[in-house]
Amino acid sequence: MPLSSKHLLGLYDTPVEDIRLILDTAKTFREVLERPIKKVPTLQGQTVLNLFFEASTRTKLSFELAEKRLSADVVNFSKSGSSVQKGETFKDTVNNIISMKVDIIVVRHESAGVPQFLTRFTNAKIINAGDGRHEHPTQALLDIYSIEEKIGSVKGKKICIVGDIAHSRVALSNIFALKKLGAEVSVCGPLTMMPVNIEELGVKIYSDINKAIAENDVLNVLRIQLEREAGSSIPDLREYREYFGINAERIEKNNKDILILHPGPINRGVELSSDVADGPYQIILNQVTNGVAVRMAILYLLGTQN
Ligand code: NCD
Repeated sequence: MPLSSKHLLGLYDTPVEDIRLILDTAKTFREVLERPIKKVPTLQGQTVLNLFFEASTRTKLSFELAEKRLSADVVNFSKSGSSVQKGETFKDTVNNIISMKVDIIVVRHESAGVPQFLTRFTNAKIINAGDGRHEHPTQALLDIYSIEEKIGSVKGKKICIVGDIAHSRVALSNIFALKKLGAEVSVCGPLTMMPVNIEELGVKIYSDINKAIAENDVLNVLRIQLEREAGSSIPDLREYREYFGINAERIEKNNKDILILHPGPINRGVELSSDVADGPYQIILNQVTNGVAVRMAILYLLGTQN
């Protein structure tokens, strides 16, 4: 069964059947990652371009490993050190790279809509690896995979996304996918970090972190996006930690069964204290491992269909 689209631009437009197909396929690749030889010949002969205009550690390495483990040829572009710094436009840069014939483009960019824009002037398949504050579909899929691996289907589960919702593409992709899969989704954070009309997405809003911990099965904790002017939405980081920071004491007082996720990178001591970031309630590094399997699934499904 193929995916319904040749691109993965976001989860808002992705049917629930496609989301399930990706998650199911990822299970097979998760097993491949446990083998001594973690490589399969699936994408032999295909070329994947990782087009990264914005900083990334996990996402970029995870895609690159996924591509190599599927035996694709991989080329990497990073904005720093490229001719963009000599003044070349986005379109000129991309047209030049595309002329070298690539089959799949994984793109991260600080502007929302760039993955969609790329579909207009290339025949390559496009995977969104994070566009501005818009979507980050592969992160949400690996989050959901990791939750289900730990506590079973997200259907009917109460999942709260905590923190800087307004600046977060991870939040939006999670909300879209989790709602489609039947989870009860909520958000918690300072009102200055809530997008206007967020309740129209069908999510409950918490302003009290203790209540959010007490009433949910899962917290997906986001980073304060300091590089996206998030600093001006809160008086200071210490105050943020006082009101919304997750620490072991809060968890032990309110809900010892809670599962904590974080997409990384963590601002240690701000949204998560180290006793939680390294403690028994979190699955942060499982998320990273699963990310490779989920990205292999997406690359495989898109790469082997027309
Ligand atoms: C996220 C991103 O870049 O959107 N990180 C990631 O992909 N693992 C979240 C973040 O930067 O806070």
